[in-house]
Amino acid sequence: MSNIIAVQNLTLAYGKEEKIIDNASFLIKKGDFVFITGPSGSGKSTLLKSFYGNLKPQKGALIMGGLDMTNIKKSKLQELRSHLGIIFQDYRLINEWTVERNVVLPLWIAGYSKEVQRTQAKRLLHHVKLSGKEHKYPMELSGGEQQRVGVARALSKNPFLILADEPTGNLDEFSSNVIWDLLENACQQLDTTVVVVTHKIPSVFNIPYRHFTIDEKGKIYEIH
Ligand SMILES: Nc1ncnc2c1ncn2[C@@H]1O[C@H](COP(=O)(O)OP(=O)(O)OP(=O)(O)O)[C@@H](O)[C@H]1O
Ligand SMILES: [Mg+2]
Repeated sequence: MSNIIAVQNLTLAYGKEEKIIDNASFLIKKGDFVFITGPSGSGKSTLLKSFYGNLKPQKGALIMGGLDMTNIKKSKLQELRSHLGIIFQDYRLINEWTVERNVVLPLWIAGYSKEVQRTQAKRLLHHVKLSGKEHKYPMELSGGEQQRVGVARALSKNPFLILADEPTGNLDEFSSNVIWDLLENACQQLDTTVVVVTHKIPSVFNIPYRHFTIDEKGKIYEIH
């Protein structure tokens, strides 16, 4: 199955109010790296929400990894989510848990052995340049470091699809670059599909990408 996200005449709205996304159609394939830009309030976060099943299509079709999101059962949705890597702007770390435990939370839930958890935590914390901070608590880290822990956690189960909403929103250049590198690597080396909402596409980006933009009326255009 090479279509990871299939969207056909999709309309999204909250209740019966105005359309947020209006009649969108596109395909996102395995290994695609997609940036989504657009003015504030245009519906970027809303579109991502529909991808992880927090908002059902009002009209049209949305198929995620072969699953029809309009009629998806709760159990199927939970399974789908367990294979997604979701990154928000606020890190949503568990403050009572160490960095290491936060990173491997998805592996712990899935019942992986302590050995696998430790190996994966070590590898990812090295990638996000936080080696040596395994046993710190989130509150002992800077904002940028916390966000890097959040990104490491999102990647810990090797998700087939990463959905990120402003992952570098308030971060300095160093933390932003670490995160872009990690997302590039996941896409290039593991063929992970990546969809990123951002205000600004990084000026240095080393792999091919697609660029969608949403206008004020909720129309989606592919720029390239
Ligand atoms: N839960 C909700 N209920 C009703 N309307 C909502 C809800 N969430 C968002 N909206 C509305 O949907 C529109 C799109 O919001 P969305 O959060 O998707 O914008 P965005 O493109 O992500 O903006 P930003 O760049 O500021 O994050 C806005 O007009 C917003 O007011
Ligand atoms: Mg948003």
